Amino acid sequence: MTDISTEVTGLKVRSPAMLAAGVLGTTGTSLRRIAVSGAGAVVTKSLGVQPSEGHPGPNLVEVDCGFLNAMGLPNPSCAAFLDEMDAAREAGVPIIASVIGRNAEEFSGAARLMGGADALELNVSCPHAERGYGASICSDPDLLADIVRSVKGSVKIPVWVKLPPYVDKITELGIISEKNGADAVVAINTVPAMAIDINTGMPILGNITGGLSGPAIKPISLKCTYDLYKALKIPVISVGGIAGWEDAVEFIMAGAAAVQVGSALHNNIDIFREIETGIKAYLEEKGMTLEAMRGIAHRKT
Ligand SMILES: Cc1cc2nc3c(=O)[nH]c(=O)nc-3n(C[C@H](O)[C@H](O)[C@H](O)COP(=O)(O)O)c2cc1C
Repeated sequence: MTDISTEVTGLKVRSPAMLAAGVLGTTGTSLRRIAVSGAGAVVTKSLGVQPSEGHPGPNLVEVDCGFLNAMGLPNPSCAAFLDEMDAAREAGVPIIASVIGRNAEEFSGAARLMGGADALELNVSCPHAERGYGASICSDPDLLADIVRSVKGSVKIPVWVKLPPYVDKITELGIISEKNGADAVVAINTVPAMAIDINTGMPILGNITGGLSGPAIKPISLKCTYDLYKALKIPVISVGGIAGWEDAVEFIMAGAAAVQVGSALHNNIDIFREIETGIKAYLEEKGMTLEAMRGIAHRKT
């Protein structure tokens, strides 16, 4: 059978399909369950130095072609999550700790606390975070640069930067991340969005607005991957609307070093295995390797 194991920022993964941040990554047991179900690596829920309760509900609503969420980054804090990391480690796949903060100091503090992970993913892209967190960081290029540089100076493990879906700006944000030492970029976080209940005339989410995920955002994410792959030397890890092996193949053709899956898990815990077997069968049929497929959408005709 074709081998689709690969290496991403020095981490060996048996399959390029990983769990996305914030979806079923809230305990060590759930991270382990996802790893056992076939994920090549797992990303934790975003964690900060201080615990946070997140936004009032409703926090999640299903819409056409996806989900809207405004969780508000609830988390028990990095320190309180360390026991969960121990439990997750038994799964035997790389564990990536997603961290949050408002500035270089907070990010570096969180990064040091999670320094036992295999890599860090800096969440500078959540569209519904509390003031000063998440995507607001990307409106200040100097702040983004400062955060990436400072985290890189604080830990020895690879640092991935998770970017917002700003189609016109994402390349610029990727270049800032790369210049300041990021080992990879992850694209994309959810797309700012909202829904209104026409019976009450009120926004449905407790936070009024939130982030859209699922199939609706796949073409946006694919373009971000394509543009980032063209502009950067560091790997691009893709996330957004991936719901089957065909989607994963499309992203790898656009240049993805690996893919992450979030929303599609809501009704399919077997998705990682399906992506793995689907990619293997496709490559066998085409007589191609995973590496040869990566980025072929960029070839000159
Ligand atoms: C319920 C929910 C919670 C999420 N929590 C986080 C989070 O804590 N940190 C983060 O970086 N992204 C978070 N995300 C964004 C996902 O990691 C992913 O970028 C996005 O959902 C697009 O992928 P998908 O279409 O496969 O869901 C969350 C998404 C959902 C639906």
